[in-house]
Amino acid sequence: MNDENREKEQLIEELKTLRNRLANLERVEKSVLQAKNEWENTFDTVKDLIFITDRDGIARRVNRSLADKLGVQPQDLIGKPCRDIFRCRHKGTENCSLVKIQQGLSIREHETEIPFLGIWVIAHIYAVYTPSMELDYIIHAYRDITEHRRLEKQLLQLQKVEAIAQLAGGVAHEFNNLLTGIIGNLGLAKLQLNTESEEYLFIERAYNSAEIASGIVKRLLTFASKLQDTYSVISVNDIVLKVVSMLRETINPRIKILVHIHKDLWAVMANPVQISNMLISLLTNAHDAIIECLEGLFKHECKEKESFGITINVENTKIDDNYSKLYADARPGEFVLITISDNGRGMDAETQKHIFEPFFTTRRMGTGKGLGLATVYGIVKQYKGWINVHSEVGSGTTVKVYLPRAKPY
Ligand SMILES: Nc1ncnc2c1ncn2[C@@H]1O[C@H](COP(=O)(O)OP(=O)(O)O)[C@@H](O)[C@H]1O
Ligand SMILES: [Mg+2]
Repeated sequence: MNDENREKEQLIEELKTLRNRLANLERVEKSVLQAKNEWENTFDTVKDLIFITDRDGIARRVNRSLADKLGVQPQDLIGKPCRDIFRCRHKGTENCSLVKIQQGLSIREHETEIPFLGIWVIAHIYAVYTPSMELDYIIHAYRDITEHRRLEKQLLQLQKVEAIAQLAGGVAHEFNNLLTGIIGNLGLAKLQLNTESEEYLFIERAYNSAEIASGIVKRLLTFASKLQDTYSVISVNDIVLKVVSMLRETINPRIKILVHIHKDLWAVMANPVQISNMLISLLTNAHDAIIECLEGLFKHECKEKESFGITINVENTKIDDNYSKLYADARPGEFVLITISDNGRGMDAETQKHIFEPFFTTRRMGTGKGLGLATVYGIVKQYKGWINVHSEVGSGTTVKVYLPRAKPY
């Protein structure tokens, strides 16, 4: 082989190696590109709100979920300081959580509110260091836990009411037995006495007080769903109409009552007296809330309204899995829904936390016993239903009672 040929061969070999290297490089480029795409897709697909800032908290990258939440494009946020993005009032505020990271903490986890978005998040903040251990950039991952917190609060409130019901129910049960003995014996003593005598008068007074005490104890037993009851298949429509016609006779004529009942309403298994009591309690509260607007202490809280009224709506409703997940005590199935709305004084959030507790009342001394909603709670619970209350100060209150449809025989 002459020199020329050898050179040729060598060149061909080099060319082959070069081609191989190129193919390798192409493969590497392809996989780098794939990794980049996958990384970006992941970054933008996850529901968590994720952004990356430099060591000073200036946004370098923002994922799609966060941009969507803020109603902007991710690129609109690049270059902005974290505290501007989250409208933090103070430098180094909780939402951006930079200070501790800048001071050397490598991971930080905390719960915080983002008020202008109306959400609560668990924030995970991770520091990323250069090989020479200098703070390079910071990863911020926020998980929206608003819904979770709302349900947790509901559940806690339910558990609190349940605990009170257990205690109240136990005490009421003992007192009920004692009062049965007291009332029975006082009754017997009355029979032995001359109705004109002074002794009779004393016994009569004690007897009447014991009867009142027994009434309160029975309401506490109802709250604890401990009252033994006979159920029958009933139409809520009939009971609503009866209670409303009774109420119309006594109510302030400035309060309009509107009733919408739906024919073909499903039946429910319940005690009609209990359902009447429940409606009376709810309607009395609605009435009182309006009276407090019309003439009471809360006149100034109530917005100017053309007219004051109570609306009652009775309908069939099907609860699906998604809806039942919104409320801690809701469950899927078929229910009769009673909605009672008033445009009275409404309640603030603090009041709403306590309304089902026995003896909780905001009424002036002597006017309310605070047992109305406690007994409504017990009645609805006994029938395996639930109650939702929505209220706003000055605007009014809507109470929704769900009672399960009676199973056909
Ligand atoms: N429709 C309503 N509008 C405004 N506040 C209400 C309404 N229903 C209940 N409340 C509030 O809940 C409290 C407890 O109600 P309840 O258990 O019926 O007891 P009471 O009526 O004896 O005060 C009331 O004192 C009131 O503050
Ligand atoms: Mg009441």
